[in-house]
Amino acid sequence: MILLISHQADAHARCVLDHLQAMERPALLFDLAEFPDRATLSIDYADGARPRIDYARADGERHALEEVRSVWWRRPQAPDLSSVTDAQAHLFTANEWNEALNGLWRLLGDARWMNDPGRDDAASRKAAQLRIAAELGFKVPRTLISSDPQRVREFVRALGPGATVHKTFSCTHAVWRETRLLGEDDLAHLDTVRLAPVIFQEFVPAAADIRVTAVGGRLFPAEIKLDPVPGAIDFRPNLGAATVREHVLPLPLRQRLLALMQRLGLEYGAIDLRLTPQGEYYFFEINTAGEFLFIEQRTGQPIGHAVAEWLAGAQSMRLTTRVISADAVRSG
Ligand SMILES: Nc1ncnc2c1ncn2[C@@H]1O[C@H](COP(=O)(O)OP(=O)(O)O)[C@@H](O)[C@H]1O
Ligand SMILES: [Mg+2]
Repeated sequence: MILLISHQADAHARCVLDHLQAMERPALLFDLAEFPDRATLSIDYADGARPRIDYARADGERHALEEVRSVWWRRPQAPDLSSVTDAQAHLFTANEWNEALNGLWRLLGDARWMNDPGRDDAASRKAAQLRIAAELGFKVPRTLISSDPQRVREFVRALGPGATVHKTFSCTHAVWRETRLLGEDDLAHLDTVRLAPVIFQEFVPAAADIRVTAVGGRLFPAEIKLDPVPGAIDFRPNLGAATVREHVLPLPLRQRLLALMQRLGLEYGAIDLRLTPQGEYYFFEINTAGEFLFIEQRTGQPIGHAVAEWLAGAQSMRLTTRVISADAVRSG
């Protein structure tokens, strides 16, 4: 069985589930927010070396998770503990689920993971990504991550006027902030970085933004071109007006990207690069579970299908082994 760890409203999970269904591969959307009210989890050590893992849903559906052969770590949700109102009990319950689920991922350790949660977590740390990219020979923008206003002022001064962008580590549903040029207003409020570190970076001019989606050793590079919008540097708020096309990467860059995936131990990644008017590629970041539908829909690159194929890969190998051995028994 193939496990997709996400939730019902995830269009990417839907897309991959549809491909898996067309391939006639049994797959299950595993939404951790169904715990604890709409599903239960039991790990039964009756046979110590081979624990049985039962996932039972309130609607009567049951699944033996020890059968899982591949997993897509896509959008893991937190168990829905809204019914636990006491703050201490809430914290305790959340920790207990966290422990049990982290143990479950280890128990499924024989499965192939896209991506392994531990590696995914390590690889997604922006503060460390740039060093790894630089070690592998990518050009990276001059960057300062700091909560010290004085250090930031010096950094901005050294780059010169209008040459610094600022970006966040993460976003939530409530707060999403695109990358922006640091303006006069921001300079007046630089002291607020004391509250939490901010990523400051040299502004890199664009011939195009490049999004490379890597799926199990395959690369799907796309270029995103936008007519200049005054004051905007991040393509996302104006994605509708952008031209998105397949892009041909130079061979050494392809190799470098594959080396990056290998170094990070990832099977899936969406890498943001920028191609400058001088023809240089800069590395910005890798999103370990980045979206691909906006690229697939605009370029026709079969990314969802590639994810499904990768997930089905382990199953088809196992199926072949079983078919061969059954034939061998019959004929022998
Ligand atoms: N140093 C930079 N110079 C110019 N534009 C940038 C720079 N960094 C990011 N951008 C623009 O902002 C977008 C988002 O930045 P990115 O580093 O991918 O962070 P995130 O996607 O997490 O916000 C990039 O794809 C690019 O369009
Ligand atoms: Mg990005």
